[in-house]
Amino acid sequence: TEPLDELIAGLSVDVPDFPNPGVLFRDLTPVFADGPAFRRVVEGLAAPALEDPRAAAVAHADDGVPGDPGFDVVVGVEARGFLLAAAVALRAGVGVVPVRKAGKLPRECVRADYALEYGTATVEMHTDSLRRGQRVLLVDDVLATGGTLAASVALVEELGGVVTAVSVVVELTALEGRERLVPHAVHALWTA
Ligand code: PRP
Ligand code: HPA
Repeated sequence: TEPLDELIAGLSVDVPDFPNPGVLFRDLTPVFADGPAFRRVVEGLAAPALEDPRAAAVAHADDGVPGDPGFDVVVGVEARGFLLAAAVALRAGVGVVPVRKAGKLPRECVRADYALEYGTATVEMHTDSLRRGQRVLLVDDVLATGGTLAASVALVEELGGVVTAVSVVVELTALEGRERLVPHAVHALWTA
């Protein structure tokens, strides 16, 4: 079987100067469009510690609800993270909670501002979307500067959630986003 990082690298498409000059955009949409690749990506994201037998059981279960995956809920980041987070949650037999761009959620929210690789933004979560002490797997497609995921971690923690790991498909290592997520473990399926 092809190693997962090589599979992702082979299916992704590099787009120079998108959305701004100087940005090399790693387009993962062809990875998600490929059935076997998408399945392996989802299983990889669901198992942030493959050496952990509970996590491995999730990764290798053929179907059905597995044992404790090591987290109680998946938090996914708008918009591309949603494609992944819902699938990971279904795989692990837990629920999914959204981190959304400002103004999209209808009820009381906590919010965090952040700087993006290209621009600035605000993310929000419903104030009642996590219970204190709930173990959270945070999922997004790309770790770039880490601004989005750092803001998401701040929201989860403000709500009393415990981030057990941060899973991404690709980590753009040159941008050192991992540094902004310390002390949280970042699990990247591919580093580019
Ligand atoms: C992208 C990507 C991550 C974030 C990574 O989302 O999906 O969420 O940027 O960048 P960072 O590590 O520098 O914060 P974007 O804000 O473009 O939104 P989208 O998912 O709605 O396309
Ligand atoms: N590729 C895809 N998504 C991104 C990137 C990138 O280079 N940077 C921020 N989000």
